[in-house]
Amino acid sequence: MDLADIDEKGRGLLFYGKGDVLSCTLVDGQPNVYLLETKIQLERDSQKKPLPGQFYMLKAVPSAVTYFRPISVYHSELIDGDERQVKIQFMILKKGSGTDELCRQRAGDKMELIGPLGNLFELPDGESAKELAEANGGVPAVCVVGGGIGVAPVANFASSLPDASYDFFASFKSGSYGLENVRAKNLTITTDDGSVGVHGMLPVALTKEVIAKYKYLFACGPIPMLAYIQQTCAELGVKCFLSMEHRMLCGVGACLGCTIKTSQGLKRVCKDGPVFPGEILQFEKCRKRRQSLPEGVEPDLSFDFKGVHFKNPVIASSGTFGFGQNYRGLFDVSLLGGISSKGCTLEPRVGNPGERSIEVVGGNMNSIGLQNPGIPHYIEHELPELMKLGPTIMVNLAGSDLYSYVEAAKMLEKTDVPMMELNISCPNIKGNGAAWGLKADTAFEVVSAVRQVFTRPITVKLGPDAADIKSVAIACIAAGADGLSLINMYHAVAIDIENEAPFFKNIHAGFAGPAIKPLALRIVYDVYDELLKMPEEKRIPIFAIGGIACWQDAVEYIMAGASAVEVGAAKFANPNVMIEVIDGLRNFMKTHGYHNLAEMRGKAHVFMPQHMMNEE
Ligand code: FES
Repeated sequence: MDLADIDEKGRGLLFYGKGDVLSCTLVDGQPNVYLLETKIQLERDSQKKPLPGQFYMLKAVPSAVTYFRPISVYHSELIDGDERQVKIQFMILKKGSGTDELCRQRAGDKMELIGPLGNLFELPDGESAKELAEANGGVPAVCVVGGGIGVAPVANFASSLPDASYDFFASFKSGSYGLENVRAKNLTITTDDGSVGVHGMLPVALTKEVIAKYKYLFACGPIPMLAYIQQTCAELGVKCFLSMEHRMLCGVGACLGCTIKTSQGLKRVCKDGPVFPGEILQFEKCRKRRQSLPEGVEPDLSFDFKGVHFKNPVIASSGTFGFGQNYRGLFDVSLLGGISSKGCTLEPRVGNPGERSIEVVGGNMNSIGLQNPGIPHYIEHELPELMKLGPTIMVNLAGSDLYSYVEAAKMLEKTDVPMMELNISCPNIKGNGAAWGLKADTAFEVVSAVRQVFTRPITVKLGPDAADIKSVAIACIAAGADGLSLINMYHAVAIDIENEAPFFKNIHAGFAGPAIKPLALRIVYDVYDELLKMPEEKRIPIFAIGGIACWQDAVEYIMAGASAVEVGAAKFANPNVMIEVIDGLRNFMKTHGYHNLAEMRGKAHVFMPQHMMNEE
C-alpha cells in the first residue's frame, strides 16, 4: 500500500497515462464549446480522482501539437464505486490547434492525461457553506461565479457544496452552459446579448451591493471579470478566491513558464494555483479591442514596391514554386500577390547529388543545390510564361562569383521582369554563393555591382547565418538595395544513423518550415527596429520569409515590420495555404479596423507596453 503519498487535502500521486474517450459533443447552442468525457484506470491506491478546482494536462492521441493543454475538470466520479476507475468530464473551449484536436475526439479514441494538478477551491479554516447559511437565516454566505468557459471549475466546486448553501452567478456572451450540476439557492445568469437571463455583463447582476451580502466568493473567468471581483471584494472586505488561467508547458511546477506576479512574490499558476486568494493577485489593465471596419468598407491589401504594384502581400517563395506552372489547377495562381521564381544562375546547374530532401520535426531539410536551366534559358522560356500568370513576378538571381551575378543581371535588364530578388545567401551551393551575404563588405560589393547594371527594384535575400545581419542589411541599403528579403533557410545537418554518415552529400542542408518562424521573425523584427533608427526616406521594405504556414503568421510578420510575406514550404503540406493566408489576412484587417497594410505594419514595435498606451 502506498497511501502515505496522499496529502492532507486528499490529493494523491499524479496519473500519467492514456484515457479512453467516452464521448465528445458540442454543447447545445454554443459554436465552440465541447463536453469531453473520458475514463481513466488508476494504477495505485495513492492515485485519486480530481478535487474541485483541479485540472489535467491533456493531449489527443495521436497529436500534431507538441505539448499538453491545461483543462479544468468539469465533473468527475468513480465508475461503479471502483476507486481505480474514474470518469472525468472536461468542458473545452476550442480556440487553437491543441484544443481543436481535443474537441475532435470521438468515443473509442485515446487521449493522454497528466493530473490531477493544482490546488483546490475550498472554504477557509474548515468552514461549511451550509452552516454559514444556517447561521444567516438560510441566506447563503458563499457566492460562486463563473464567466464563459470558467464556469467549468466553479460548477464542479459548486456541485461539491450542499444544495442551496450558496448562490451562483454565471456570465456568458450568448446562451448558457455548464450549469447542470449547480444546485444553488439562487442561480443568476447574465448574457451579453440578452439571450438568457439578465441582459448585460456580470456587474449588471453581481453589483457591489449584491457582493456585500457574502462572506466568501469563488470565481473563474476572463481577467476583466476577475479584476472587477477582486477590486469590489477588496473594497467591501469580502474574501475571494480566484482561479487563474495561464499557458503552460510542464503543468507540474518545473518549467516556471506559468509564473505570475503577486503581492507575495512570483507564483506558478499550475503548482501554487490555479486558485489564489484574490487579494494577492495583480492584474494588468486589459488592452482595448480594436473596432471592425465599417460595414461595406474593404481593407486594401495592395502595396507598391518602388513603383512595382502587388495586389496583395502574399508571394510564392523562391525554390518552392518552380516557375509558376506546377501548382496551376491546384488553386487559382492568379490570386497571388507575387511569385519569386526558382533561383537561377548565369549558367545552368544540375544541383546536388544524392538525397535532396527529408521531413524533420517542424519542417523539412533540403539540398537541391540550385538546379536551374541558367538565365538565358530562363529569359527565353520560363519568364514569358511566368509573366502570363497574373501575379507580380520577381526573378530570383543567385550566383557564385561577381562576374556571374553581373552578367546575368545585365541580361535580365533587357527583359520585362519588373524586379529582382538578389539571392546572396543560398545555403546549398559550394563556393561563394553562401558567403556573399555573410558579411557587410561582401554584401555591399555584390549588391552595388548588380545595382549598376540592373535599374529596376532589387530586394536582397539574406540568410540567417550572418554574424551581424543588421550590419549586412545596412550595407545592402548603402549599396542601393530597394528591399530586403529576410530570410533564406537555416543551415542544418541530419545524420543517417544506419550508415553512420551525414544524410546529405553536401553535409549541410537548408532547414525550412514552421519551426524556423520564431527565429526568422526575430530577424525581421530586429532589422525593422534598425530601419526605424534611420530617416524615413532611407527605410526600405522587408519581404518576410520563414515558416509562414497560416494567416496569423503573416499578421505577425507584418506587425513585426514586413511589407509582404513569402510563403514557402507550407505549400507542400497544404497547396491552398497562400489563398488561405490572403483570405485570413483580409478578414483580420476587416475585423480589427485596418484600412491598409501600412496601418498594421510595425505595430508590434512599441516602446512601452501596449496596454499602457491604451488606458482609458
Ligand atoms: Fe511549468 Fe507551470 S507550467 S511551472
